[in-house]
Amino acid sequence: MSYTLRHMTSQTSIPTPPPTDLGQASGQWIDPSLDLFEEIEKLKKERKAVVLAHYYQDADLQDIADVLGDSLQLAQAARARKDAEVILFLGVHFMAETAKILCPEKTVVLPDLAAGCSLADACPADKLAAWRKDHPEHVVVTYINSTAATKAESDWICTSSNAKRIIEAIPRDQPILFAPDQNLGAWLAKTCGREMDLWPGSCIVHITFSERQIVRLKAEHPDAEFIAHPECEDNVLRHADFVGSTSRLLERVATGESKTFIVGTETGILHEMRRQAPDKVLIPAPVEARDDGTCGCQECPYMKLNTLEKAYLALRDLKPSIELDEDLRQRALVPLERMLSI
Ligand code: 13P
Ligand code: SF4
Repeated sequence: MSYTLRHMTSQTSIPTPPPTDLGQASGQWIDPSLDLFEEIEKLKKERKAVVLAHYYQDADLQDIADVLGDSLQLAQAARARKDAEVILFLGVHFMAETAKILCPEKTVVLPDLAAGCSLADACPADKLAAWRKDHPEHVVVTYINSTAATKAESDWICTSSNAKRIIEAIPRDQPILFAPDQNLGAWLAKTCGREMDLWPGSCIVHITFSERQIVRLKAEHPDAEFIAHPECEDNVLRHADFVGSTSRLLERVATGESKTFIVGTETGILHEMRRQAPDKVLIPAPVEARDDGTCGCQECPYMKLNTLEKAYLALRDLKPSIELDEDLRQRALVPLERMLSI
């Protein structure tokens, strides 16, 4: 038997991140007679490994996960799985790095170290430190989509699932710097009724949705509910019937009364939405066509760098692994622990 995929892999045409030579497990020969799904199951036992996957991963990768979740659920799962000696993280670099900050004793492997994030790239630690120095009276709340070094310069970390709770835990008279997602920050400022200074970063996927096309689609499907992630821009969010993190959007589809949903987030989530709510009609929110003729699309090119083959190699060879300086890890842990204690 040759190693076959169970689902179509993504064919993304939005620009892929630059290749790196960070020791990623690619370009290696794999015996084509192997059934990679079976091999991965065997390796999980041998390595005492737990596989954590984000909802934006390709369907085949979601299917091999022991825990499937959003950023917060995966950070919690990394720590909760005390039995595991190895974490195979099917997500992007900042997520695997967060797992390592929380679980330094575990080997954390990421199939492709180049799986980055436009938000993490937008906010280097030295720039955040300078911003903070200019605002000594503010506290810094940083989205989990950031590097360990940037986390280390922060007072609080939040995810899209708990951001409202974190902001509400900070006294109302305390001024806040929020980084690096200006769209999540603007949505929080609006929903929490708080003024916040926002860092000018954004997610390259969630800012591609087209307000014009969404308005057209809503008119064509008057009974459809438009649900959107708070990383989308305000002009899109103002048309949303429901705004929430990836797991909240999933819950809404699974338990909400509407039959049809226009889904304003990365399309990887549709796999689990279809599994949990097979009777619902799901329409990916449209993006604007590009002038150069390539389709803009709702897929994260970083997330899609991970493949079944690379996942197998990572578990087999236990690399590429996430390594962190211990002093940096301890400093990044402080605001993360503060978040997890809420
Ligand atoms: P959540 O997993 O918190 O919904 O975040 C979405 C995202 O873009 C992750 O990179
Ligand atoms: Fe980063 Fe956006 Fe990709 Fe999430 S979807 S990893 S926020 S670029």
